[in-house]
Amino acid sequence: MQFRPWLWAFSILFAWCSLPTVGRAEVPVIPSETPEQRDARMQWWREARFGMFIHWGVYSVAGGTWKGQPVSGIGEWIMNSANIPVEDYASLAAQFNPVRYDPAEWVRIAKDAGMRYIVITSKHHDGFCLFDSKVTDWDVVDASPWGKDLLKPLADECRKQGLHFCTYYSIMDWHHPAQYRGSDQAYNPTRIHPERKREYMEYMKTQLRELLESCDPEVLWFDGEWPDWYTEADGREVYVYLRELKPSLIINNRVGKGRKGMEGLNRSDQEYVGDFGTPEQQIPATGLPGVDWESCMTMNNTWGYKSDDHNWKSAETLIRNVIDTASKGGNYLLNVGPTGEGTIPDASVERLAAIGRWMRVNGESIYGTQASPLPATPWGRCTAKRLPDGTLRLYLHVFQWPENGRLTVEGLSGRPKAAALLADGSAVAVQAEGERILLDLPGKAPDPVASVIRLDVNPNP
Ligand code: GLC
Repeated sequence: MQFRPWLWAFSILFAWCSLPTVGRAEVPVIPSETPEQRDARMQWWREARFGMFIHWGVYSVAGGTWKGQPVSGIGEWIMNSANIPVEDYASLAAQFNPVRYDPAEWVRIAKDAGMRYIVITSKHHDGFCLFDSKVTDWDVVDASPWGKDLLKPLADECRKQGLHFCTYYSIMDWHHPAQYRGSDQAYNPTRIHPERKREYMEYMKTQLRELLESCDPEVLWFDGEWPDWYTEADGREVYVYLRELKPSLIINNRVGKGRKGMEGLNRSDQEYVGDFGTPEQQIPATGLPGVDWESCMTMNNTWGYKSDDHNWKSAETLIRNVIDTASKGGNYLLNVGPTGEGTIPDASVERLAAIGRWMRVNGESIYGTQASPLPATPWGRCTAKRLPDGTLRLYLHVFQWPENGRLTVEGLSGRPKAAALLADGSAVAVQAEGERILLDLPGKAPDPVASVIRLDVNPNP
């Protein structure tokens, strides 16, 4: 028989392709999506701009204290910080009876603050689930006196009151027997028994499916992705699994390794899996151009409730953080840590109410806006919208009200059409001078924290 190299090569390729897939590393394929499809999927989230993070679990019962002693560090990490054995930690679940939990009130508080979505911990690093999981007894239904799912009622309330319901899920798990403590002193970062890793991956996937089926979250917000045993390929597997179950789902970058070594910042979409970056406790100075992102932040120093943490940020700081984040094109996810009884601390409620008062007057300068196109805004911040007729609508958030009543907006070529104060709709006189726009403001700032002027500009062709 004649030797035909191409036939030979083809046969080898064919034989390799027909080998059983076991043992061959499969690279899960991210569902393909056109830019338009992606925009449609991300649309509500991009427009929302402001959401509530809720850290709640059996650590909230401890409130930062173990055996009568205050434990340093953030509240939800107490199992790790006080190095509490799994069996002893279970005593917290036995006391978790949130009789004052009022999901309608929680959603009302978020909604009145101007928040458009809620992200709540379904399972934090301690492994305890706030929903009814069939694959563990370490959940609120089986291990607490409360005995009922905590997430479903909140999900229902969110939908009733028009907010988007989303869930946080920790990949690292200090309770699951497949993982074990990183050292004698700490759980974090966990290690895994290699022969049990598959079992844990399936456990996670089952729980995530349970979550989708029971309360249908619109975002899955992963965390605890940093232990070395968890890889980018694992992240892709989880991401693909979830998007196949629910194509419209939005998933943060911590599903994979995208923030490792990046101080919480995302890299390009091609390299790492996930739909948005998650800078933590910071608002990146220039935003994260080209990617969707959301800054998550605490109001005091802890995510989970800590009775002795009184280091609250002022309402002024928080309002300006909402503005600052929007001006850089991101979302702001602001945390509350309810008590073990189920109440949101008064200090948080008061601050949220103050943010809400500002948002009711000025919300149109936040929702659905984009990053500032201006090179510098020494007087405050700017957000922008493009109107259907091509008008560039700028929202000037003035933090420092000019004493001489003259506000200069630099670096904007274009013809100003009109300007008005959002506070009362009154017109503001405006004129162009080369690359600057000059506004004549009333003597007194309508709002000492941030007064917003809406400025419409006809951009130069
Ligand atoms: C960190 C912490 C965690 C918290 C999260 C919020 O990763 O480990 O406790 O839930 O930040 O972004």
